[in-house]
Amino acid sequence: MSQIHVNQNDRSALDLATSFLDQLRTRRSVRTFSDRAVPQDVIETLIATAGTAPSGANKQPWRFVAVQDAELKRRIRVAAELEETKLYESRANEAWLKDLAPLGTNSNKPFLEQAPWLVVVFKLTRDDMPDRETDQVYYVNESVGIATGMFLAAAQIAGLSTLTHTPSPMKFLGELLGRPDHERAYMVIPVGYPAEDAKSPDLERKSLDQIMVVDAGHRPNANDSTRSLPSSMAPRS
Ligand SMILES: Cc1cc2nc3c(=O)[nH]c(=O)nc-3n(C[C@H](O)[C@H](O)[C@H](O)COP(=O)(O)O)c2cc1C
Repeated sequence: MSQIHVNQNDRSALDLATSFLDQLRTRRSVRTFSDRAVPQDVIETLIATAGTAPSGANKQPWRFVAVQDAELKRRIRVAAELEETKLYESRANEAWLKDLAPLGTNSNKPFLEQAPWLVVVFKLTRDDMPDRETDQVYYVNESVGIATGMFLAAAQIAGLSTLTHTPSPMKFLGELLGRPDHERAYMVIPVGYPAEDAKSPDLERKSLDQIMVVDAGHRPNANDSTRSLPSSMAPRS
């Protein structure tokens, strides 16, 4: 056992959390990248950050494949566009296409070649550590989702842009990248700097009261209806 690190930062929790929120609020999916290079050690640091994520029984059931080779990126684009063409032409139902319409996306995926790096996230269907006692893995989707989210946040803090791209089905990624059978493609994340003319659709975020409920608990003032509102929603006195 080792001692848990206690944050000795002088700034208040609210101050620190607000500053993180302010930085993450500016994150938007980017679909047009510039050719500005991103050094490999930056990508390594983002992946190391993802690797700090919690995971079911600490199995860390993820692998991040960092692709920068132009020919490999081109092959990924060609294969992804093939799947995406099928998606837009027949696989997606009317409701799906309607939901996608405000994003202005289509089967054309130039960002798969433009971005200096594609980080392809794989989930492991079994543990492959050499010293393992069993090869079981637990809560894989949850664990990989958390690690991927931490990667995205780290990229944002580093001033980089990303896209969470899910060309479906993604089997071609394992084949093109020569990954073993127990690694299943989970997401492709182009990473880089946005092109000068990059734009993103005007999308609304749900408000805090739509995504948060405060449990009033068994307190003397539990009948006070304002207790069930986030603090930002409580009526001002
Ligand atoms: C699991 C997941 C899959 C996604 N797949 C795609 C995708 O294949 N192509 C794409 O252009 N955007 C994709 N997105 C991006 C979303 O469209 C985007 O996050 C959403 O519209 C909100 O916009 P924002 O990221 O700019 O805030 C995906 C996002 C998530 C979380």
